[in-house]
Amino acid sequence: MTSATTRWDTHPSQSWLRGERPAEPVAFDEESGLWNVYGYEEAVAVLGDPATFSSSHVGDLLPVQVDDSLREGNLLEMDPPDHRKLRNLVSKAFSGRVVADLEPRIAALTHELLDAVEGDRLELVEDLAYPLPVIVIAELLGLPSGDRELFRGWVDTMFSGSEDFSLNADPEQVEAEFADRLDAMTPMFDYLREHAVERRRNPREDLISGLVRAEVDGQRLNDNEVVNFATVLLVAGHITTTMLLGNTTLCLDAHPGQRARLRADRSGIPTAIEESLRFLTPFAALSRATTRDVELGGQRVPADRMIMVWLSAANRDPRKFADADVFDSTRDPNPHIGFGRGVHFCVGAPLARLEGRVALDILLDRFPDLRVDPDLAPTFMPSPIMTGPRTLHLRTA
Ligand code: HEM
Repeated sequence: MTSATTRWDTHPSQSWLRGERPAEPVAFDEESGLWNVYGYEEAVAVLGDPATFSSSHVGDLLPVQVDDSLREGNLLEMDPPDHRKLRNLVSKAFSGRVVADLEPRIAALTHELLDAVEGDRLELVEDLAYPLPVIVIAELLGLPSGDRELFRGWVDTMFSGSEDFSLNADPEQVEAEFADRLDAMTPMFDYLREHAVERRRNPREDLISGLVRAEVDGQRLNDNEVVNFATVLLVAGHITTTMLLGNTTLCLDAHPGQRARLRADRSGIPTAIEESLRFLTPFAALSRATTRDVELGGQRVPADRMIMVWLSAANRDPRKFADADVFDSTRDPNPHIGFGRGVHFCVGAPLARLEGRVALDILLDRFPDLRVDPDLAPTFMPSPIMTGPRTLHLRTA
């Protein structure tokens, strides 16, 4: 591997980002007690069978038991058929057709944020990649976007740990860390609860009002369900897109020829964004739990085991992708699973793709000489399951 991309300081546990392929597509890790899925076909098999590989059962296997009040209404921790009923409440609001109307607003925000940058340097995350998606999702939910520094504090706490997750960690330590995290996030739950209560009294045209009005099987969602649902939208709705913008910028910087071609022909931007999602997958791993004994990738996985599905490794599986470790902004078809697969497929994918396309187009327009600052290396998110820059210093001239 000679690519510049192998030198980035991504999390050490994702060795495939440095060209080291795991030996097996499915492997049990004694130390952590986790089953890891690295192969593409195997990952697709897991994500396509929620009855065997459950999302809701994960919580039962964790070393810390999480109170139901923190889990109800969280789409990511539900299985069919309940999951479908709740997901239907928002899927229309995020459909490609509805989201397309946001394009002028996303473009105006991008220009506004870039207008505020002074001099010939910018820090992409701080100046654009963090605020843009967070303002968009806050406006959709009906939250004041001026509160975004609050959201940032809460979400940073959620993903601040850099340790690999283990089922065999010291229970007391896990308990203490969980309590700390919960303490830090309680203000976010209280904040969202206040907004939910207010919308019950004075509904508006926003997603929180939609959630408090919505009925599932003739029943309104309770406050916990609204809060947990809104939390997922708020959290999933911004940090991942922040990483996508940073990753795409990094990949193009490392491949100036591809960047020049894209600048000359912007119709290639959507394809380049898909390749960025494959090559550096922002949401690197998903968890599932087996509900029965099952054969996977030639291994017998017993019931009640926790599985980490490494999307970022599956997206570099040479059995599926030719030259899997090469960034090719024209790769097509590109069946990557960076947005997941199956019933939990990212509801925000059309929005993330639109934000990525608009922002990248404007960056290419406004800064012909944009490049990574040679004196300030990018830093990456500390979490082993997130892949994307936390800081990305750029020079515009
Ligand atoms: C689900 C990735 C942007 C909202 C997911 C999943 C992935 C993912 C991998 C599947 C989770 C699972 O199977 O357990 C990403 C990436 C994004 C992005 C890489 C940006 C590049 C967004 C945005 C929103 C969003 C902008 C805004 C609403 C959600 C929600 C779910 C989800 C609500 C849960 C869906 C369900 O469980 O049915 N996302 N996401 N995501 N995403 Fe995204």
